[in-house]
Amino acid sequence: MKQRNKRVLLGITGGIAAYKCAELVRRLKDHHVDVKVVMTDSAKHFITPLTMQAVSGELVSDSLLDPQAEAAMGHIEFAKWADLVLVAPATSNIIAKMAVGIADDLLTTLLLATPAQVAIAPAMNQQMYAHVATQDNLATLAKRNIAIWGPGQGEQACGDVGAGRMLEPHELVQLVLQALSPEAKVLQGKVVTITAGPTREALDPVRFISNHSSGKMGYGLAEAALALGAEVNLISGPVSISAPCGVNLIAVESAADMHVAALTHAPKSDIFIGCAAVADYRAATVAEQKIKKQGDELTLTLVKNPDIIADVAALAVSRPYTVGFAAETQDITTYAKGKLTNKKLDMICANDVSKPDAGFNSEHNALTLFWHDQQQDLPLTSKKELALTVMKAIAEKIK
Ligand code: C5P
Repeated sequence: MKQRNKRVLLGITGGIAAYKCAELVRRLKDHHVDVKVVMTDSAKHFITPLTMQAVSGELVSDSLLDPQAEAAMGHIEFAKWADLVLVAPATSNIIAKMAVGIADDLLTTLLLATPAQVAIAPAMNQQMYAHVATQDNLATLAKRNIAIWGPGQGEQACGDVGAGRMLEPHELVQLVLQALSPEAKVLQGKVVTITAGPTREALDPVRFISNHSSGKMGYGLAEAALALGAEVNLISGPVSISAPCGVNLIAVESAADMHVAALTHAPKSDIFIGCAAVADYRAATVAEQKIKKQGDELTLTLVKNPDIIADVAALAVSRPYTVGFAAETQDITTYAKGKLTNKKLDMICANDVSKPDAGFNSEHNALTLFWHDQQQDLPLTSKKELALTVMKAIAEKIK
């Protein structure tokens, strides 16, 4: 018997990113996903129901109290039709309404009536996203197992820069396909601990040694692990991006702090991923007072930091599947394989940071995955998509 197509109910709310929903629907249909669209009144200021009707091939619903629409498909029937309800873009307003369970239009009513998995793609000004009210509401939704996809970082329609952009349609499509696939929650019941970002090694009360790591790859991995059903500990050095809702964020500064946190969580984890750019050295002594300018030269004595991932991989009991990263500028294969062996890892993800369009601060990356007996090239793509591929590859190995 032929299986029916998967069904997504797309709820569009009133954000500028609504214009991307036409592309989102087209791409979902390319993957044989049936899409019905519900729009709030404010969404219609940003994209017309006619456009959404044309791309979805279905009448667009927008009213709870429309006898004609109810006769065609009642709102409860609608709620039961979906395999997944995706609210994209999800404004701070709809997030607040969902958090308290308001049902004052078709979309909010459907959201209470649906037995399906619900996902939201937040999109708003970065200040609105960072507001404690929005963050509290998102935490409430995460506790109810509502998947929170994004937001992305970057330049916003209002000119601000920061967290609050809706994920791009192709990224949302990957997450939808992931959520709809039968083996979607391949990491359900697993604990994943990830280190991310740079470390800061203090020289005195006002200065430190650090590096350019943005944390994007590690944060992307945390989000991907969550999407695959894992419980996630994210041990992060100082970064300017916000953690995905639903992760257990452990904020640290120095390699020593990260080492303690990693060795606390690793033995309770199934998977440990060292994605942090850990400083190799720290000051032998941290000056208690600000170091004063003296002469033309200043000599600092640095001592080696512990190798966090090597210590995790060396755990005699409760050792998690251990995955490292290697950022290299030359001889990638040789150096990556050397680290895989020397640090006794199970897998290493290597990237060429000499390329201008990939690596440290970029939104994109390309990786080669190495195991002791195998390797796999992952071409240049967004860090979020890449993260999902990497997490799936790891999940495959620990099955
Ligand atoms: O030796 P290198 O820094 O190139 O190795 C990179 C890998 O080792 C990454 O997975 C990184 O997170 C981890 N690492 C670590 N502790 C260190 C240095 C690197 O966990 N002190």
